[in-house]
Amino acid sequence: MSQDAGSNAPKDSVTLIDHSTGNELNMPLLEGTVGPKVIDIRKLYSELDYFTFDPGFMATGSCDSRITYIDGDAGVLLYRGYRIDDLAKHCDFPEVSYLLLKGELPDEEKKNKFVSDITYHTMVHEQLHKFYDGFRRDAHPMAIMCGVVGALSAFYHDSTDISDPRQRMIASYRLIAKMPTIAAWAYKYAIGQPFVYPRNDLSYAADFIHMMFATPCEEYIVSPTISRAMDRILTLHADHEQNASTSTVRLAGSSGANPFACIAAGIASLWGPAHGGANEAVLKMLNEIGDVKKIPEFVAKAKDKDDPFRLMGFGHRVYKNFDPRATLMRETCHEVLGELGIKDDPLLDLAMELEKIALEDEYFVERKLYPNVDFYSGIIFKAIGIPESMFTVLFAVARTVGWISQWNEMIEDPGQKIGRPRQLYIGETERDFVPLGDR
Ligand code: SDX
Repeated sequence: MSQDAGSNAPKDSVTLIDHSTGNELNMPLLEGTVGPKVIDIRKLYSELDYFTFDPGFMATGSCDSRITYIDGDAGVLLYRGYRIDDLAKHCDFPEVSYLLLKGELPDEEKKNKFVSDITYHTMVHEQLHKFYDGFRRDAHPMAIMCGVVGALSAFYHDSTDISDPRQRMIASYRLIAKMPTIAAWAYKYAIGQPFVYPRNDLSYAADFIHMMFATPCEEYIVSPTISRAMDRILTLHADHEQNASTSTVRLAGSSGANPFACIAAGIASLWGPAHGGANEAVLKMLNEIGDVKKIPEFVAKAKDKDDPFRLMGFGHRVYKNFDPRATLMRETCHEVLGELGIKDDPLLDLAMELEKIALEDEYFVERKLYPNVDFYSGIIFKAIGIPESMFTVLFAVARTVGWISQWNEMIEDPGQKIGRPRQLYIGETERDFVPLGDR
């Protein structure tokens, strides 16, 4: 039963009144440093024998965190308190990775040490080569990523004791460092070219591009424009609060699973077209639309409740304003196409027209459906030569630092418990068994 419910309740609380029984429960309101307060419902089941019901977690906070803050109405995204536009314009991806992982921007010395530590973990165990041979050449690179990253725990036993902070950090560095190598090799395997080893003299982004496009036959010079674009794209995709794939990593990690297995689970979740798979789906959609004249037909399909088609790259669970990453991505898109001398890219023209039409359409305006991070990323990826099948793989490479930072935060939380949601059961009540002969 409740104490001090109703009129005697403290100010920083809410009172739930159960009109079916007259019971009341006083629940504390918890306040973060910024953003909505949360109702602490942890006593609800023990006191009133009720669960909450929130499919899709539309209004549920799963944890407290210091890593990323999103204001969906204002279109604000902060990594450890720094605005995403400041970080994208003034930092490189290793610096942002250090910030997400450790909570502060590094000074020159700390940054150089971090870059060196990551650089010297970019190679993978030579046996890992053999995992690729088990896949068909036409396997989707995300399928290869799920398999090979999950297998890392078979190679790096010395960093799977999650109770040891040092082993947690070694596993974190290994994952951040090895993802570009594993990803680039998934592409090389798909096109039948030999794997290219990481180069310690290249930056993180440049090395990733080099491993994807270099061949043993001649020197491959990485374009500074493309390297800078890749670095910014990695920063824009690095973390995003408790999205589906991050929540998957946290839930997997809450059972004590090793970090390599947890990141593999995150990769699987990111693959879905409603999540990280949307960038690939946007390109497919733009190619299907094909012509500006066909845009109204596709916008109508997106609005038709009987048609499962959705405008890929539009809408977001949290952003009910412009996704700040989409704005930065659009700027980067124009910069990259301009620097590469690509004047009128038909896909970009189509995307700009689609964005204009959608943003003026009542259906999208009413539902606050704006372009999200995936809307422009595919066009840049295509401009810098990344094949469509690799778009979500790039997203996974970038998001690994966010996933592993969130995983570390969860493991380090002294109050951490295994995640175990309940349900509203709507199935059969207990009934007598019927032997086969009597059915
Ligand atoms: C990412 O969570 C994150 O932070 C994710 C992410 C990250 O960095 O981790 O930001 C990355 O996943 C970005 C989102 C990429 N996905 C897409 O672009 C796929 C297309 N978008 C939709 O599938 C959808 O907008 C979601 C999945 C992104 C959000 O879905 P919600 O929050 O569950 O919204 P909803 O389905 O309840 O939609 C609300 C209304 C519905 O109409 P009504 O029932 O109210 O009439 O808006 C409609 C939807 O039908 N709607 C769309 C639409 N998105 C929502 N209608 C047409 N086209 C769309 N894209």
